Amino acid sequence: MNTSDVSRRSALGIGAAALMSPTVSVAAQSPVIRVHKDPNCGCCTGWVRHLESAGFHVTVQEERNLQDIQKRLGVPADLAACHTAEAGGYVIEGHVPAAAIQRLLKERPAATGVAVPGMPVGSPGMEGGTLERYAVVLFGPDGRRTFMEFEGLRPVG
Ligand code: CU
Ligand code: CU
Repeated sequence: MNTSDVSRRSALGIGAAALMSPTVSVAAQSPVIRVHKDPNCGCCTGWVRHLESAGFHVTVQEERNLQDIQKRLGVPADLAACHTAEAGGYVIEGHVPAAAIQRLLKERPAATGVAVPGMPVGSPGMEGGTLERYAVVLFGPDGRRTFMEFEGLRPVG
């Protein structure tokens, strides 16, 4: 799948949501997340467990070259993290909390996806240590904005 496929899928999703299609609501209730990760990444596995315990169905694909995937899916280099996922036509980059993904899939903003750049301490999969406050960034062709902020798993701000 290339970048244009992603934007086309997003556009279709938004159109369908606007029509209140029952298919979309069913999909939103049992979301599937496809994760691309390096086979040796431990924090990625921690993030996958977090998603599963939040009720997502997760499939994992081990990747030798994550950068190729990130480029193909339209993740800006400065937002790139240790794993890249796809859900509901969106790209989910890095240690994004399940609460932010649920909101993304419910509100369906016009965007490529959301990212938590870097690996903030206390984000899901990065437990232990003093919690850092971190932002989930919504990004896409129209620019970026802060979608949500967290401390650990708790939304703040
Ligand atoms: Cu990580
Ligand atoms: Cu990771």
